[in-house]
Amino acid sequence: MPETPDSPSLFVARLLDAWDASAFVKLTLSSPESQEDVRPGDGLRNLKARAVDLKEGRMLSLVECYSNREVTRNHASRDGARLLGEAFAKVFTKAHLFTTGGDFQFRRERSGVVRVKVSRPAFTQAPERSHDRRNPLREGLAAEPFMQKLGVTAPGGQPRPGMAGKLRQVVRFVEILGHLLDDWGRPNSGPIQVADMGAGKGYLTFALAYALQKRGWEARVTGVELRSELVESGNRLAAELGMDGLRFVQGRIDDWKPEERLDVLVALHACNTATDDALFQGIRDGAGLIVTSPCCHQELRPQIRLPSQLAVVAGHGILLERQAEILTDALRARLLEMYGYDSRVFEFVEPEHSGKNLMLAGVLRREGGRRPELLKGEFREAWEAFGLETQRLAVLLGEVPR
Ligand SMILES: C[S@@+](CC[C@H](N)C(=O)[O-])C[C@H]1O[C@@H](n2cnc3c(N)ncnc32)[C@H](O)[C@@H]1O
Repeated sequence: MPETPDSPSLFVARLLDAWDASAFVKLTLSSPESQEDVRPGDGLRNLKARAVDLKEGRMLSLVECYSNREVTRNHASRDGARLLGEAFAKVFTKAHLFTTGGDFQFRRERSGVVRVKVSRPAFTQAPERSHDRRNPLREGLAAEPFMQKLGVTAPGGQPRPGMAGKLRQVVRFVEILGHLLDDWGRPNSGPIQVADMGAGKGYLTFALAYALQKRGWEARVTGVELRSELVESGNRLAAELGMDGLRFVQGRIDDWKPEERLDVLVALHACNTATDDALFQGIRDGAGLIVTSPCCHQELRPQIRLPSQLAVVAGHGILLERQAEILTDALRARLLEMYGYDSRVFEFVEPEHSGKNLMLAGVLRREGGRRPELLKGEFREAWEAFGLETQRLAVLLGEVPR
């Protein structure tokens, strides 16, 4: 595979995408530019990174390898990734990122241009990290009475027929949210306020309340759902199980307002533009984390006009449909970025567990980010190139006319 130009900041983005998707295997930075770039006499040869599970959560462990010693320091993933990005930009000229989805070899030239070569993954499974061998979260969730009462698992904890995929999605969603919470670091005091939009029967809503309680965090979890019979049954079950911090409210996502601030907003398979309503609520209320798995994209498909360079797609209905889905989620990710979030898009479960396996997450930025006019300019370019007329999140945010 030939080398293609890349940018130093994309190096960190690739690392974090792999991290968030639990696809990160390891990373090595090597070939320091010159010994003047490191402290005199240090003889730093390379810097290695791997994931470790500690009681504080999953961390990035960085090992500085000198000619005569090694120094190991553990960091929250965002901090570790930032340090690796700086080390690659200033000290090392080569980086080899191993992920279960593919391997990336980055090379930084003297001019600052970074070239990347992508190859097949050398490791198709992330290495086991202490308690990864068993999955206590999965085992704990599967054995919980609410999972059994909701019909996901049987009394022995095994998934009921047809429910293995849902159990897997909920476990992965909660796991990923846990990693994001580790990084986020909870800037607010008091109970964490969580909203689950389009909660349905409440599989994820119950699981989040459970996981936050296990973490020792006081939480208020609200499931917002249109169908009153699901709201009633969810509230009945929460009361029966004494889950005080959990409640379901009947209503439309776009009508809902948090009683207090909103810390975390999630939406698992809120169909079509209900995901846009959820994203808008999260942005409007300044949620620190917004984690969604969109599905049933229908809005752009009838509007999309392919640029002439993509005319080859037009004759294939399924490809056109996927093109519209990709564009929808790319625009949503970009809108999150334009409104102060770092966005992440990745597959959160394997396609065999669910075709609806894309995760679109936003982490509220505390500083930095690309220049707003660049973000907006690229958004407008895509909008015009595909001849779009409307997109719900863009309309709600006032980026395009109603
Ligand atoms: C596909 S289900 C997903 C349920 C749940 N999140 C899960 O993954 O198990 C989508 C749910 O969102 C609800 N829903 C759809 N649009 C909504 C809206 N605008 N406001 C509130 N709920 C909505 C539906 O009633 C349905 O229960």
